[in-house]
Amino acid sequence: MTVRIAPSLLSADFSRLGSEVAEVEQAGADMLHLDIMDGHFVPNLTFGPPVVRCLVPCCRIPLDAHLMVSDPQPLIEDLARLGVARLAVHVEACTHLHRTLARIRQLGVKAGAALNPATSVELVREALPWLDFALIMSVNPGFGGQEFISESLAKIRRLRGMAGDLCPDISVDGGVGCDNARALVEAGATTLIAGSSVFGAPERHQAVAALRRAANGTQNQQGAP
Ligand code: DX5
Ligand code: ZN
Repeated sequence: MTVRIAPSLLSADFSRLGSEVAEVEQAGADMLHLDIMDGHFVPNLTFGPPVVRCLVPCCRIPLDAHLMVSDPQPLIEDLARLGVARLAVHVEACTHLHRTLARIRQLGVKAGAALNPATSVELVREALPWLDFALIMSVNPGFGGQEFISESLAKIRRLRGMAGDLCPDISVDGGVGCDNARALVEAGATTLIAGSSVFGAPERHQAVAALRRAANGTQNQQGAP
């Protein structure tokens, strides 16, 4: 599976969201990652459906919503109606994970389960048939710019071994950059979600390209004939 790069809007300049989105789109990003936080499940607040509604007409790449909220149900309905392509709910926030994943799929959206760093991959074992993707948090959710938790590599490897073809996409979110992209892909990650390493860079085009080269293990071949 080709590795996909999904810049996380959390690290963008919120005063000019339209042009920020356009820059990463032109840079060849595969998806735009949206971190939706409620100030309850995580100690931070971001944005919700009104902002997503404004992003939809100006974004041509698929929208990847990551719900860091205690009650995902109403947001799932709203965001699906707005046209997001993927929705990840946290297993820690879902008492009825199967029901929630089935509802997301019923709405025509790819269903994902997100796991906090201290949550075992075993918690999604029984849910694998209803998962389009798993989202491994490699930092504690809530903020961009945190240090990558290195134990996440082994966790991705465990999930890859356990999931096989049942869950083709493993997304990794938090502290992802050129320094760990290759190791993450080798461990089994197929989508790299990157906030500060893309939107924190002065040239987003170069940042996306560098991350892709690193993910593919070709970073030393730049300029090679
Ligand atoms: C953190 C969010 C991430 C965040 C990643 O709670 O889920 O998507 O934007 O930011 P970086 O890449 O800076 O760690
Ligand atoms: Zn996220």
